[in-house]
Amino acid sequence: MDVDEILTGLYSEAGRQDPYPWYAALHRHGPVSAVPARAEHSTVSAVAVGYDLVDQVLRDPGWYKGMPPGWQEQEILRTFLTSMMFVNPPDHTRMRAVFARTFTPRRLSALEPVIVRVVDAMLDRMADAGAGGAEVDFVADFAYPVPALVMAEFIGLPEADLAWYRQRVDWIDEYMDVAGKTPERLARANRAAEELRDYYRDLIAQRRRRPGEDLISGLVEALDGGGVELTEDELISNLIVLFNASFVTTVYMFSNGLPLLLAHPDTVAALPGDDALARGCVDEVLRMASPVHFLARSAPRDTELAGVPVARDENVLLLIGGANRDPARFPDPDRFDPRRDGPPSLAFGVGLHFCLGSAVSRLEGRLALPRLFARFPGLAVTQEPTYSGSLFLRGIDKLFVATGS
Ligand code: HEM
Repeated sequence: MDVDEILTGLYSEAGRQDPYPWYAALHRHGPVSAVPARAEHSTVSAVAVGYDLVDQVLRDPGWYKGMPPGWQEQEILRTFLTSMMFVNPPDHTRMRAVFARTFTPRRLSALEPVIVRVVDAMLDRMADAGAGGAEVDFVADFAYPVPALVMAEFIGLPEADLAWYRQRVDWIDEYMDVAGKTPERLARANRAAEELRDYYRDLIAQRRRRPGEDLISGLVEALDGGGVELTEDELISNLIVLFNASFVTTVYMFSNGLPLLLAHPDTVAALPGDDALARGCVDEVLRMASPVHFLARSAPRDTELAGVPVARDENVLLLIGGANRDPARFPDPDRFDPRRDGPPSLAFGVGLHFCLGSAVSRLEGRLALPRLFARFPGLAVTQEPTYSGSLFLRGIDKLFVATGS
């Protein structure tokens, strides 16, 4: 199969449901492949799937995030491109420093009791919903509300606003997918960005009047005191991107992970009480069923990646979901092994833009999984999972289970 056929397969409905056979086919072509110019995927000139090569590009600060033409005219792009996730140094360094200061070990340990409280409340809800053998949607009752409620408390969003908020996140994420760039989706994403900006403007004004312990209050105070190099407009862009980045990704960590874990009953049985195993399971789930499947970077100069020429400013698609199954780095890559010792997966990226919230998600997973299986040792999936249909954020949106209680 040639690279064009593989990419067509990968971007198809079936490929987005199960991309792994296509990644395995790409690995057989080597760590990076040139994308044929006539292909409809030719906004990128090469696609990389080899772990070492993807790692090398992400760690090289010269490779940058490109800006699509006309971005200032679209509210969604303007929001993204004035946030740390999408800008390059020196703006990136400045913005990231402001937020990195708030992700301290102290804040993280303060989050532990919040996570435990939220997890236990959702387990109660699952137990009620699943009483007498009724089917429960694990996503609606656990995987979605746990990260949403934890992050809402962390950032300082009122819980009552979350359902409204989620609709806007969905509109934005649809537009972010490889096949998402239709005029209708762009219009919806622009509307979502406008509404979220108004929403945060109000919230910031409220916290200015009545500060609390949350992240927004802390950032507003620092902003008004002249202590941070950030405009209010940039603060809003970063808050939107921060919550977006934190949310569906962690939902998918839980929902993608559950079927993988349940296929290994011995591991599940050993999870309660084994913290090292819980950490290993979280990392192995993220490797094998990564919520984010690709990143992109633009070349700083005319160069070559493993013999494939890339001209200056051309884009390379970095398939982190595929790199995490590179047989050269993860022997027997399709085998779930929570005690694997190998390099870290690229699920959180690496280099300048390495996920700012990785410790938060890992902590959620590490605390939640043992509690989940201690509470429901007989948990079982009852129907085929439904996937999002997106490759950018690949995950299970519906997952019916029986709690066994
Ligand atoms: C399992 C859950 C998560 C996954 C798989 C994930 C994945 C990623 C990846 C792959 C990147 C790198 C983007 C790039 O290089 O272009 C990233 C960046 C980022 N993530 Fe996460 N993330 C998760 C959870 C979170 C959480 C909980 C937060 C917030 C508390 C968060 C906030 C961010 C931010 C702000 C960035 C941008 C950092 C920068 O550009 O410097 N993420 N994430």
